[in-house]
Amino acid sequence: MIQTNTYSAEVLKAVDIGLSRSPKRLPSWLFYDEIGDKIFQAIMRMPEYYLTGCEFEILRTKKDQILQHVSSQDRPFQLVELGAGDGTKTEVLLKHFLNQQKEFTYVPVDISEAVLHQLVSRLGRTVPDLQVQPQNTLYHQALKLLSDREERKLILFMGANIGNMSVDEARQFVKQIAEHMNPDDLLMVGFDLKKDPRLIQAAYDDAGGITREFNLNLLARINRELGGEFDLDYFNHYPYYDPESGITKSYLVSTVKQQVYIEALDKSVSFEPWEIIHTEVSQKYDMTMVNTLARHAGLEVVDKLYDNKKYFCDVIFRVADY
Ligand code: AVI
Repeated sequence: MIQTNTYSAEVLKAVDIGLSRSPKRLPSWLFYDEIGDKIFQAIMRMPEYYLTGCEFEILRTKKDQILQHVSSQDRPFQLVELGAGDGTKTEVLLKHFLNQQKEFTYVPVDISEAVLHQLVSRLGRTVPDLQVQPQNTLYHQALKLLSDREERKLILFMGANIGNMSVDEARQFVKQIAEHMNPDDLLMVGFDLKKDPRLIQAAYDDAGGITREFNLNLLARINRELGGEFDLDYFNHYPYYDPESGITKSYLVSTVKQQVYIEALDKSVSFEPWEIIHTEVSQKYDMTMVNTLARHAGLEVVDKLYDNKKYFCDVIFRVADY
């Protein structure tokens, strides 16, 4: 059945534009419907997907170091999380800050009302004393609102979400955040680092086929929401890590010549054998790239928090003093 809400209109537009391009390309936010969210949770539990475990380790072992940065003047502060997701990692920080009797408010920002609702109700059970002010809005709108407030802010953008933007998009995005930061505010961004290419390749091409399912769900979603007729048996999942650029690109590859009808568009999309749809970029960083990103955004690095294997780094920034 075709839904006619505004969300679907957005999906419809993205699919129409993306499948008319050459090469075909669908934006990676399309992964995250209810089913995609669940598959992503499974990805985070996979042995090959080292990113989640590494960032967990950083938050567990460096939670006090993070707190020292933000609470140095013992003033109340706000912990603003962009793209909070299910918030399990953040809970480590929230519990620690509360145990240390710090006065702060947690402000999770997400465009998905469902995700925020789930998060707030879980935190109500697991961290009942926490003050939560969810913001169901776009990131830049939330930052605009928050920049007028008196309290100091620690803005979190974790989980290597920045990697799903190109380097140029990431620069624009971080610059936008920086423009809404006051001089004593901090920003903490999670970067997945360049490492043994085989490890990175395996994280996006797991033996259990969960990432394959995640990628193919994009076509399944078009079938569900837009009345598409994609036969998933005729598409392969193909991720490719290029150690020179640090980019993992994920593709869906049509294994045959085919025409796929999409009811909501009232048209068929043609595929040649081995034609691709580019579905995701996962950019890996090194410290030179992180420093360049900071400089372009008018920020400077305050601290770098690594896991013990140096696979991942949460970098704390402030507005540059020049
Ligand atoms: C959400 N994001 C940081 C994940 C990543 O690693 O790029 C999404 C993902 N795609 C495939 N596996 C995980």
